[in-house]
Amino acid sequence: MKDLLRQRTSLKEEIEILLNNQVKLEAEASAKYLAMASWCDRNGYKNSAAYFMKQSNEEREHMLKIFSYIMTVGGTAVSPEVAAVKQEFGSFRNVFETALQSEIAVTHAINRIVTQSRKEEDYATENFLQWFVNEQIEEEDNARRAIELFDVIGEDGTGRYQIDKAVAKIGSDE
Ligand code: FEO
Repeated sequence: MKDLLRQRTSLKEEIEILLNNQVKLEAEASAKYLAMASWCDRNGYKNSAAYFMKQSNEEREHMLKIFSYIMTVGGTAVSPEVAAVKQEFGSFRNVFETALQSEIAVTHAINRIVTQSRKEEDYATENFLQWFVNEQIEEEDNARRAIELFDVIGEDGTGRYQIDKAVAKIGSDE
């Protein structure tokens, strides 16, 4: 049955597995951002909570985009299992540092699928992933910008309050 199904699509099994892994990674990223939103909310950083809610939503959209692509090219899209995510963070700054590390990991994962697609001569998948390559430039830039705010504004006095206010502008043309 599996072989018969495989004859109906040009999608190679290895690429299908990598794409499904990416679906899972995006779902996990979405869940991680929810945990960050909750932490920020309960610690009084309302703008940052809203920022992470928006990020979480974007990650879900990324997940759906890949999920739909797998179905479109005749593969089997697998609804992802999401492992337990970290709910506590050491500090306000640590939340943003964790976000940047997570985005860098996603960029590496995307790059690995692009490399493999090219190796397997799956140019459709390589082409599809270009959107994600560009998206990651923006996502990493936003995450870095947030950390810069800690350095530029400083955390003393009303610093964290000012940082939280500035986070609301990340991603918009300041
Ligand atoms: Fe979908 Fe932020 O990576």
